[in-house]
Amino acid sequence: MQIKEILKLTPEGQSIVVKGWVKTKRGQSNIVFININDGSTLKNIQAVVENGKISEDILKLATTGSAIAVTGKLVASAGAGQTMEVLAETIEVYGTADESYPIQPKKHSLEFLREKAHLRFRTNVFGAVFRIRHALAYAVHKFYNEQGFFYLHTPIITASDAEGAGEMFRVSTFEPNKAPLTPEGNIDFSQDFFGRETALTVSGQLEGELGALALSRIYTFGPTFRAENSNTSRHLAEFWMIEPEVAFFELEDNMNLAESFVKYVISYALENCKEDLEFLENRLLEEEKQKPQNERSELKLIEKLKFVVENDFERLTYTEAIDILLKSKPAQKKQFQYEVAWGIDLQSEHERYLVEKHFKKPVILTNYPKEIKAFYMKQDDELNGAPGATVRAMDVLFPGIGEIIGGSQREDNYEKLMARVKEVGIDPENIWWYLETRKFGSAPHSGFGLGFERLVLFVTGMTNIRDVIPFPRTPKNAEF
Ligand code: 4AD
Ligand code: MG
Repeated sequence: MQIKEILKLTPEGQSIVVKGWVKTKRGQSNIVFININDGSTLKNIQAVVENGKISEDILKLATTGSAIAVTGKLVASAGAGQTMEVLAETIEVYGTADESYPIQPKKHSLEFLREKAHLRFRTNVFGAVFRIRHALAYAVHKFYNEQGFFYLHTPIITASDAEGAGEMFRVSTFEPNKAPLTPEGNIDFSQDFFGRETALTVSGQLEGELGALALSRIYTFGPTFRAENSNTSRHLAEFWMIEPEVAFFELEDNMNLAESFVKYVISYALENCKEDLEFLENRLLEEEKQKPQNERSELKLIEKLKFVVENDFERLTYTEAIDILLKSKPAQKKQFQYEVAWGIDLQSEHERYLVEKHFKKPVILTNYPKEIKAFYMKQDDELNGAPGATVRAMDVLFPGIGEIIGGSQREDNYEKLMARVKEVGIDPENIWWYLETRKFGSAPHSGFGLGFERLVLFVTGMTNIRDVIPFPRTPKNAEF
């Protein structure tokens, strides 16, 4: 039985077996207390070893970090901090851990634990983070299933650059420097495994659209890969993305879906991960105490999550956002490092200003300039007050995170899409199958991508994206 289940029992002296890893062992001459955790919950169970019950040799092996099984009677505990404990009758040590075990019962820095990524699962903080990550993933499937969406598995290896940003990891079976060349001196991919140039997917969207234009409502939830060399606390080279795609949805429907989806999964975590969230909140409060008064955040983690669930997201156009940013500029001092002007790609400082200082809530920005967005976004017919052409894009921005969702209504007009494809320099031959859906029964449709790790960052209150994915892939880092 897992500790989570044991803790639901009424302790009546029944025999049980507890299996897990030793967190701490406190010894006194006549009594020893061993705290055991099995990862099923944040809570430990305490085994009490009374004088002479277990041989000294075995007790010596049951060190911090060792894996053990304790058999004994479950009884009510008189000690503070737990309601029940196990009176040990036998202890089996599966594997001991010597003093070099790096996860000792003290507070380790997250940087230190990143270097011990193979063992960091055993800490309270990473246990909490990965249990919450699981709950959120489960809630994603639950939400879409309840809404009549089908989970579509899009390929990991693709031949198209869905975002057109040229940040793909190449997939090839050629050995380095041994690739056959064409007479022109280029690599001859026709001789490679797939007979063409391939790469790891940056997004399942294009394939997702094919599904939506038949099944009406689909979503993907899989790993995506980007070879962008940005070493930030918000970027990974391998991250998980959830991409719903819906036929007959326009931009407004897309915004409503995004907002209700995010609220649903956060509510699910609030209801089902209370203990872990409280633990992470307390951890953050301890950290806040180290900061000067004026830099401390106003809201506690759980209040912050509830606030997002209970309040409408602010919705405005990119053009309106630029106006706000321009007006925010104090006369003397330059407010932003990057200058604000219509047409710029918003930098995180701009996004943070809007979300954290101006609106103080999640924001959905729409109708971005065409030039800074992907080729597949539906072009706006009217300017809507903008000085240049815009597309029906939407980005959802979150406090402390910045962009958490990117999406749009899709261009469903064959001629317009083809013109745009050529304009941005994509070879139509490479995505002929995508273009064909606009020839046969084209329909308005929309979708978006939620960066799963950015969601986990927000919900757990962690600050570095490397700490919310079990095995982070970042530039120069793929050890574990
Ligand atoms: O805005 P992006 O690039 O949009 C797309 O890929 C679309 N094809 C999605 C769609 O419409 N179906 O990425 C979507 C989200 C971002 O908002 C961000 O949360 C996350 O994916 N993201 C990353 N997360 C971690 N590391 C990275 N390098 C990320 N790049 C994007
Ligand atoms: Mg984006």
